[in-house]
Amino acid sequence: MVDRILEELYIEFREKKNNGALASYIPELTKVNPGNLGVVLTTVDGHQYSYGDTDVQFTIQSVSKPFVYGMAIQEYGVNKVLEKISVEPSGDAFNSISLYPDSGRPFNPMINAGAIAATNMIWQVYKEETFNRILETFSTYAGSTLEIDESVYSSESATGHRNRAIAYLLRNFNILQNEVEAPLDIYFKQCSIKVDCSQLSIMGATLASNGINPLTGKKALRSKHIPNVLSVMATCGMYDYSGEWIYNVGLPAKSGVGGAVLAVLPGQLAIAVYSPLLDEKGNSVFGVDICKRIAESFSLHLYKTPRQIRQVVRRQLTLRTVRSKYKRDLLAECLLDEFGGAAHLMELQGELCFATCELFMRKISRDSNALILSLRKCITIDDGALKLLIRLDDEFQRSGKTMLITDYSHLDLFSSLVQKNLAFLRFGDFDDALLHLENTLLLEHGYEPKQEPVELKDQQLLTGLTPAELGELIKHLNHKQYNEGDIIIKKGSSAKNIFFLESGQVAIQDSSDDHRDFTLAVINAGNSFGEMALLDKQKRSANVRALTKVSCFAMLYEILDSMECLASIKVKILTNLGSTLSSRLRTANKEIASFT
Ligand code: DON
Repeated sequence: MVDRILEELYIEFREKKNNGALASYIPELTKVNPGNLGVVLTTVDGHQYSYGDTDVQFTIQSVSKPFVYGMAIQEYGVNKVLEKISVEPSGDAFNSISLYPDSGRPFNPMINAGAIAATNMIWQVYKEETFNRILETFSTYAGSTLEIDESVYSSESATGHRNRAIAYLLRNFNILQNEVEAPLDIYFKQCSIKVDCSQLSIMGATLASNGINPLTGKKALRSKHIPNVLSVMATCGMYDYSGEWIYNVGLPAKSGVGGAVLAVLPGQLAIAVYSPLLDEKGNSVFGVDICKRIAESFSLHLYKTPRQIRQVVRRQLTLRTVRSKYKRDLLAECLLDEFGGAAHLMELQGELCFATCELFMRKISRDSNALILSLRKCITIDDGALKLLIRLDDEFQRSGKTMLITDYSHLDLFSSLVQKNLAFLRFGDFDDALLHLENTLLLEHGYEPKQEPVELKDQQLLTGLTPAELGELIKHLNHKQYNEGDIIIKKGSSAKNIFFLESGQVAIQDSSDDHRDFTLAVINAGNSFGEMALLDKQKRSANVRALTKVSCFAMLYEILDSMECLASIKVKILTNLGSTLSSRLRTANKEIASFT
């Protein structure tokens, strides 16, 4: 689909007349084929859509400027760089002498004056090593080894009198110190680095994916500096066309007289177009038009926000309506029913940013004394949202309440936090957090789990049996022991026994269509398993595995069904089973209703 739309666009432009002209102030640039046209869109997961002359090399020229600016910021920090180079759009041409009259500070790092100043800052640190540094960094962005075009470099170096004049003017204002020719020479070299459209697109996609090259996984720039680079691209990247560009196309971008336009949609993609015929502002004619058309077709404008703020809360429940997989006796169930209303659970979805966090926080009930936030369905979280979550935890703690965040491992920002062993991140799994809240609440209300081994008279399903009935029943039971990991019931086998768990723990487990095992329930001493088939005699619908050493009583359904003397016992068992099932069904129904 995407492929066809882009291909149609490429074909349309390949056949279109172009009124632009090759850059001639660098003589060597006039030697290229004016009809070259390449278009590459690279997504942040590294997929590329490529059309036309995508492996024809050209010089990067001014598209080098944002990448070198990023290097300067990484080396010195934002404030030091701002002292030397401002970030105001000049509204002038790329080679304009747009300097603040008193300080000589260039307006921005995208015009030549600012770019030469940025290169000089790197040169002050790395001297002879500077160009290698730049080449290495650009290669990390591109994910392949880049080289210089020596003839374009010599050509520009020989004719770059205006840039030389700008550099000396910068020297006059002490923006360049001591040396002028050496950093200027590096600037000429960085402009002459050869790339093809595919490589340039990857460089852009690296900016789009927070500084990490989506194909190699290597970091080219610290993520905190990405906004610095992208914002100067957005405001100044297309020179005196920048305002119109951001208005119409809405993407941070940079053009170069080699014929490239690189546009970046943060978090999503980058588009590189190579077409060397330029308009009078020095921007590639087709580069501008193709980016504009792609942005329109796919609605890429940065200020069109696709965010679904209102849907951030997928479901909101309390311990009254959802339970862990840990199956408990009726008394515990009743306590959770009665007191579970103050333990809240929120399942969040989509992007966590200021607006979504602000909204869900407003929905947290004032009477909640515990809160689990499941982030399983969240796709991104930004720094601002993370800070709000940490602050929320602070406030919960201060008022003696518990907050737990679960299912966060797929969200990168949490990885550094996890190492800090923060209490609110101690349960990665929603069910574990739920179990913790249940246990805390039961403890608070004086509930004591049955002591193991749980005798027959205390078994949930045998409630109400007389001593005589228990005496009779025991004659028909087989005492069984299992080791941890043993499969007690196999899915698909025919059902013969009902089991009363005396001690230990078993899990009811099934596997999904893609062979992932998952636990449906955890059964504890005092409860039964294999009891459902007592009702319908169907084949076993899941595996039952011993999670610990297990001892239990097994009883053949056959005996319970056939023996006259056990008839009253059977009625009591079925009645108890009925009330357990209806209690569970009620909770399950409430949970299902929470989805609607
Ligand atoms: O400074 C110069 O003249 C060139 N090497 C780079 C200029 C450039 O690419 C302007 N962009 N459209």
